[in-house]
Amino acid sequence: MSKKIHLIVAARPNFMKIAPLYHALKAEAWANPVIVHTGQHYDINMSDNFFTDLKLPEPDIHLEVGSGTHAEQTGRVMIAYEEILKKETPELTVVVGDVNSTIACAMACAKLHYPADSKISHSRTKIAHLEAGLRSFDRDMPEEINRILTDTIADVLWTPSIDGDENLKNEGVSPEKIVRIGNIMIDSLEMMRETIELQNVCEEFKLTKSEYAVVTLHRPSNVDNPVKLKEICTMLNEISELIPIVFPLHPRTKKNLEECGFMQLISDNKQIVLVEPQSYIRFMNLVFNCRLVITDSGGIQEETTYIGTPCLTIRPNTERPITITQGTNQLCKIGDVNNQVQKILSAKTSTDYKAPDLWDGHAADRAVQSIKQMLE
Ligand code: UD1
Repeated sequence: MSKKIHLIVAARPNFMKIAPLYHALKAEAWANPVIVHTGQHYDINMSDNFFTDLKLPEPDIHLEVGSGTHAEQTGRVMIAYEEILKKETPELTVVVGDVNSTIACAMACAKLHYPADSKISHSRTKIAHLEAGLRSFDRDMPEEINRILTDTIADVLWTPSIDGDENLKNEGVSPEKIVRIGNIMIDSLEMMRETIELQNVCEEFKLTKSEYAVVTLHRPSNVDNPVKLKEICTMLNEISELIPIVFPLHPRTKKNLEECGFMQLISDNKQIVLVEPQSYIRFMNLVFNCRLVITDSGGIQEETTYIGTPCLTIRPNTERPITITQGTNQLCKIGDVNNQVQKILSAKTSTDYKAPDLWDGHAADRAVQSIKQMLE
């Protein structure tokens, strides 16, 4: 009998991490991967388009929890997923990254013990955490809380880089639970590279290859605070005098810009192209062809490091320090962005580039081996 494995997806950054694992498991006769979408992100732009781009089938199970406060969202996922667990009794549940659904599903698995006559090998569903061990050491970030808690209760911790292993060991996690599989997002990027490279999205926005910046901002610490949000608008207007900008607007950012009455500050500027959140292939094409990126995203710090594009991260810390020590990323205050952009624009683009260890397009294969050992 094949082993049932739930793959939890919830929000935009999850899809490109689960897709390679889904495809790799699908190729194994012993595995039955089941996609469970919690519905944390539900828009076409934030969810459906990623399924199409990454060749994922429709989710097998949809919890449809939608938006809400942290407690509401986390609670709704726990309640809904516990019901699914009781019916489905998967051998393993894979949770990914650091969103509210990650901790919610992990917690549901950790506490639900099945009756003795249930058909699975252990008394409860085992938990694998994909992208384990990352730490920003900033407990004001909801994601940091989700990471720490999920790592504490997961049965196997798949880390993307050596700093992840070290963080976990420092927290007292036993080394046999830690398996360094590398960065699985790079698997998606390599899987889709040809299609990504065939696009020319910047042309649609009347921008020229290598002569524009991509901006993405959605962290509550940046966009929920009206003072900071206004500073960001001023900064973007200044940067646009140095280089044109394409700015896909996250729903949180869009809502806040509208509610604070700041949208016009940037929408009137012809050098700033405001667009809807882009699909995976289109967004990666924009990043492949741009001169630099300004962001507060986690994943984009890694993608730019992998392809060698300069990245300014508007945050005081990062849970992905390897993108600074071995990559193209720099942390930056809003007031320093202008200076840093000028430096990047006057520097020569470097082609001499080496990706961090195990960011090689084969992380999913290593995850599959780890599952095999675990469920043997
Ligand atoms: C969530 C994750 C964050 C991740 C981000 C990527 C947590 C704690 N946060 O933050 O780690 O980096 O996703 O996007 O899990 N909305 C829509 N359509 C959607 C989804 C959301 O309009 O499909 C709106 C919501 O109504 C809400 C806002 O966008 O007003 C924010 O969504 P939410 O899922 O609460 O948090 P994110 O900021 O996206």
